[in-house]
Amino acid sequence: MSSVASTSADNPPRGAANPMRRYLHTNGATKSNETQAPYALVTGTTGGMGEEWAKQLAALGFNIILQGRNRSKLETVQSAIAVATPSAQTRLLVTEATIYPNEHLTQELTSLLSDPEVRLTVVINNLGTANAHFPLLEEETSETIAQVIISNTIFPAEVTRICLPHLKRHEPSLLAVVSSIGVWATPPYVSPYIGTKGFDLGFCQSLYNEMIAEKRDVDVTCLVPGQVISGMLDAPESLMIPTSEGWTRAAIQSLAPGMWNFWSVKPGVCIVPHRWQYWATVVTSFLPAGVTRRLAIGIAKGLKEGAAKKK
Ligand SMILES: NC(=O)c1ccc[n+]([C@@H]2O[C@H](COP(=O)([O-])OP(=O)(O)OC[C@H]3O[C@@H](n4cnc5c(N)ncnc54)[C@H](OP(=O)(O)O)[C@@H]3O)[C@@H](O)[C@H]2O)c1
Repeated sequence: MSSVASTSADNPPRGAANPMRRYLHTNGATKSNETQAPYALVTGTTGGMGEEWAKQLAALGFNIILQGRNRSKLETVQSAIAVATPSAQTRLLVTEATIYPNEHLTQELTSLLSDPEVRLTVVINNLGTANAHFPLLEEETSETIAQVIISNTIFPAEVTRICLPHLKRHEPSLLAVVSSIGVWATPPYVSPYIGTKGFDLGFCQSLYNEMIAEKRDVDVTCLVPGQVISGMLDAPESLMIPTSEGWTRAAIQSLAPGMWNFWSVKPGVCIVPHRWQYWATVVTSFLPAGVTRRLAIGIAKGLKEGAAKKK
């Protein structure tokens, strides 16, 4: 944890400048041929944080590509955006995330991005899956392990591979991947999931450096949530466990230029956006390893017992 730069920025002040103006190209970067709002692609938008990313980015002025595997659920989110933000255009990318090879993803996304009206400046690789039953590793099937690994690693890598030429064409632009505080806390019973979240972090760190090496203005950042109430986690809201709406608001605000990156307009390569989760990460990084391990095991056992009761 000590080797990564982190920031905290929830509860943005009311009336603050649009935190995404760098990617809306309304901060002086507007090019003469840019008449329509740019597009943001968000994966996993039929619930949880992905749905919030889509709604909040639309409210901030983006057109949205909504990705999900279930068309009718996507249409429900599309309708909600049309009511809340009538000016936002939305397009659907209906594709599974847990299969490989995924020719359907390549075809559909390439086709969407070939439309000259789709000027892509933001990609949020939000989609992530986990085995909700917290099994022992040997109780997993090879299929469930493969699904988690494919949806959390190959799927965002493929989405990024296809989108990157478009993000480079429409700089300054943003490529984000959602990881998990679990990569540092390393709770038991979710080893395939935690392994994939470590991939997401390393993937972003290398790609961040690739953009610098190639002198590109594509900002790459890994966003790191702790526990958040969503389809993945059913828990009461607390200081340390925000709603999907609250966490996403903090994440968007953390992408804005601010005090922590006054030497650069770019967001950091790794961000813990939620204020209390950030401070918890800082404090636990000073604790002896045995203490943080016991904490992680205690939390995971509680979640495992809760999942068993729901079965
Ligand atoms: N919630 C947390 O406590 C937490 C903590 C740390 C990191 N994260 C990360 O944050 C990101 C968003 O998580 P979330 O909690 O908001 O997710 P979520 O509510 O569980 O899932 C929302 C989206 O993921 C899709 N999805 C779920 N299972 C899927 C599967 N097997 N195949 C394809 N799509 C699937 C859902 O589609 P359907 O509607 O079709 O099911 C939905 O679009 C993930 O990358 C997750 O790893 C979450």
